[in-house]
Amino acid sequence: MKVLLLGSGGREHALAWKLASSPLLTKLYAAPGNPGIAEEADLVDLKISDNAAVETFCKEKKIDLVVVGPEAPLVAGLVDRLSGAKIKAFGPSAAAAKLEGSKSFTKQLCVENNIPTAGYAEFRDKAAAKQYLDLHGAPIVLKADGLHAGKGVVVAMTKEEAIAALDQVFAMGSNEPVVIEEFLQGEEASYFCFVDGETVLPLTSAQDHKRVFDGDKGPNTGGMGAYSPAPVFTPEIEQRTLAEIVCPTARALAKAGTPYRGVLYAGLMITEDGPKLIEYNVRFGDPECQVLMPRLKDDLLTLMLAACDRTLDKMSVRWRDEVAITVVLATRGYPGSYKSGSEIRGLDRAARAEDVTIFHAGTKREDGKLLAAGGRVLNVTALGKTVKEAQTRAYQAVDLIDWPEGFCRRDIGWRAV
Ligand code: AMP
Ligand code: GLY
Repeated sequence: MKVLLLGSGGREHALAWKLASSPLLTKLYAAPGNPGIAEEADLVDLKISDNAAVETFCKEKKIDLVVVGPEAPLVAGLVDRLSGAKIKAFGPSAAAAKLEGSKSFTKQLCVENNIPTAGYAEFRDKAAAKQYLDLHGAPIVLKADGLHAGKGVVVAMTKEEAIAALDQVFAMGSNEPVVIEEFLQGEEASYFCFVDGETVLPLTSAQDHKRVFDGDKGPNTGGMGAYSPAPVFTPEIEQRTLAEIVCPTARALAKAGTPYRGVLYAGLMITEDGPKLIEYNVRFGDPECQVLMPRLKDDLLTLMLAACDRTLDKMSVRWRDEVAITVVLATRGYPGSYKSGSEIRGLDRAARAEDVTIFHAGTKREDGKLLAAGGRVLNVTALGKTVKEAQTRAYQAVDLIDWPEGFCRRDIGWRAV
């Protein structure tokens, strides 16, 4: 099969690495890709936000399956366009991608289907929102509607912070409503399932580390590291999550005539009362994908095809017993402003370490040198029998990388250790 993978981050490198091992694969293309993905795929110069250009490329190259990594093309209807042209694509339609694209859509769906989530109210008017904050106090959470790369959310621990955040959140959502919701107390976990419209095939869990500094301090980022599985996500919590959250969501979308197909990522708070939905994403997590792929024993391409062909009911999925950890190396300054273009050395040496795989996120190659080209730059991933072993292996590999302009958290996996 000829496959086209869209995206350029660590998530897509992990997908490319796994797809490349598929017995079904004859050719892997990737757009726009990165230097790590280039080791697994032919990179093509294709604007992935241009649905027509993607369709044309697929027809020219007779692509059998398109795998969409990031959310933006999904929300923008790429899969609808490709399906219309009879090109198979892994990922939801624009209507189903609203689960990530619109906070207020998802909140409404939760209310209508009794899905546990934080209580909330929606505002188009700032004065009314301010009144609500005065009434409810803190801690409280403000969310701009639409896609904001994880930056549209303010968790305000004091009323002053909440009021200060109002302007910011209203400006981000432009004409969309702002969601103000109850602060949930507990431990977060990410849970992934494949869905083919009807059947939900559970994958596994992971835990991300969103704050930039050790001890979960500092501003939120796209994710500074992850590990899988998440011990907080016990079999009992998994059963409840499926029964109370994921399956009702899949049923509701199918009933509405907009069935969900692809990978569904539930961001959960495991509270004293059980799992509650924080948000849905309509794609793999980044960096969570980087810890899922090394643990997946089965063929990813076969599973993705089954999600497209609605045959997930005939599939099962097996995971290695080992724990996987990934440590994100970022450019100093991230998630604020930072300088691109510093040189990274010693990567080959680090990648040769036992049970270590390095996924590229924001890198570029110039004159034979590997340079940093983004905020999150590398994902150093390791497997181990225990979290501690995986963590030790990952940091040993990190320490073999010579990149003074980079930094990482030194405590990825701490909750499980
Ligand atoms: P989101 O983009 O909705 O995932 O929010 C980003 C982060 O904000 C989440 O990963 C949580 O850490 C935090 N967060 C969002 N909603 C809540 C909530 N209702 N209660 C507590 N923390 C939240
Ligand atoms: N790691 C968080 C996300 O992918 O949304």
